[in-house]
Amino acid sequence: MTNKKDQFSLECEKVSIAVVGGGYVGLVSSACFAELGHNVTIIEIEKSKVEAINSGKPPIYEKGLDDLLHKHVGRNLIASSDYDGISDADLSFICVGTPSRPDGNVDLSMIESASKSIGEHLRKGDGYHVVVVKSTVPPGTTKNLVMPAVLNNAVGISRDIGFAMNPEFLREGVAVQDFMHPDRIVIGSSDGKAGDLVESVYNGLNSHVLRIGISAAEMVKHASNALLATKISFANEIGNICKGIGVDVYEVMRGVGLDHRISPHFLDAGAGFGGSCFPKDVLALVRLGETLGEDPILLKSVIEVNERQPKKMVHLLSKRVGDLRGKEVAVLGLAFKGDTDDVRESRALNVIMDLKNRGVIVRAYDPVAIPKMREVIPDIKYCRSTAEALKDCDACLIMTEWPEFGILDDEFDLMKSRVIIEGRKVLSCKGIEGICW
Ligand code: UDX
Repeated sequence: MTNKKDQFSLECEKVSIAVVGGGYVGLVSSACFAELGHNVTIIEIEKSKVEAINSGKPPIYEKGLDDLLHKHVGRNLIASSDYDGISDADLSFICVGTPSRPDGNVDLSMIESASKSIGEHLRKGDGYHVVVVKSTVPPGTTKNLVMPAVLNNAVGISRDIGFAMNPEFLREGVAVQDFMHPDRIVIGSSDGKAGDLVESVYNGLNSHVLRIGISAAEMVKHASNALLATKISFANEIGNICKGIGVDVYEVMRGVGLDHRISPHFLDAGAGFGGSCFPKDVLALVRLGETLGEDPILLKSVIEVNERQPKKMVHLLSKRVGDLRGKEVAVLGLAFKGDTDDVRESRALNVIMDLKNRGVIVRAYDPVAIPKMREVIPDIKYCRSTAEALKDCDACLIMTEWPEFGILDDEFDLMKSRVIIEGRKVLSCKGIEGICW
């Protein structure tokens, strides 16, 4: 049953929350729950992360997170490497990773392990407790995996246990802002009581609350990410056509985005989408569809367009410089987007691997992501500055929209010649070619 509420009508009582998983979602959620006045225990298996959090130093960069940790750690926020915080908590939020397996299905082993541990630790303590899944999981996971794993390991306890699914819609780099100013709070629950308790946690946030079923909430998350990814691939497909007729797709999308039914957001054409979410979530939906006997051709084409864009970058390069073997190419930008050091599924990865396979000498630079990229691709030259990357190179590819790239101009005169191809529209100087513009 959908029970839409525009305002929170529930009284906000301070509750005790255990958050399993101190990664990007768990840590940001914990800090924001603490900011809302609740008592929060983060349960994280990596002791180094526990120590970092308890010393007020976030193990990841997220704008505003260090201020929240400084304000709440030791007061109403603490990290621990054991599950003892579960027994006295009113709610436990599962925020562990759900990475893709090589076959594109989702690895749910950490979800299962967390659920079992929560069940075991609910044997102690008393009172009503709600287990909330916040990790992005394929529809059906909470009902078919989490609930039995918790209940089978909590056999014989007297306390009532409710279940809910409460997806996050956090963008890396602005996750604290997204958490504290959500477009909507989606709560799927097994019963009204469980949903009410989860809803009360968010009291104080002025947001639309949508109360739906558990599997529907799991699907809202996937469908939202899939639609955002679809907008990007749509912009890229239109962009590829626009390039063929000498039209700047950014001018076109400004016109398209003025339609309130479309909105201007997520219509920026370029080298495609990366990150730990879009590629994984779209593929998870494809796999789910296939197991149901569907053929999700639209979702598969969203992925196909996205896989082609990095290849297009290399194709445009070879059209400009001819045989690539032995050429020296600067790749500026390694992170999957600006304001993060995350290189997961970065389009720069695809481009660099393609260039290496073609015998190109790659010189890479990124203001923050070099350490993470070096772990994945150790055998290319990493430069300390754009100037070092550009000096005497044959061409330059822009792969991340870092502001410092936007002001480059004279530095390009360090190159043998100004062959510059943008995968992200950041430059304003003359003589630039874009992947779709
Ligand atoms: C995304 C969703 O936005 C967020 O709601 C969800 O919870 C997690 O996944 P994130 O992956 O952090 O967030 O990054 P986002 O800002 O959405 O960008 C994803 C990728 O799409 C990046 O590679 C970005 O460069 C690319 N992108 C984004 C485009 O190519 N064009 C656009 O218009 C927007």
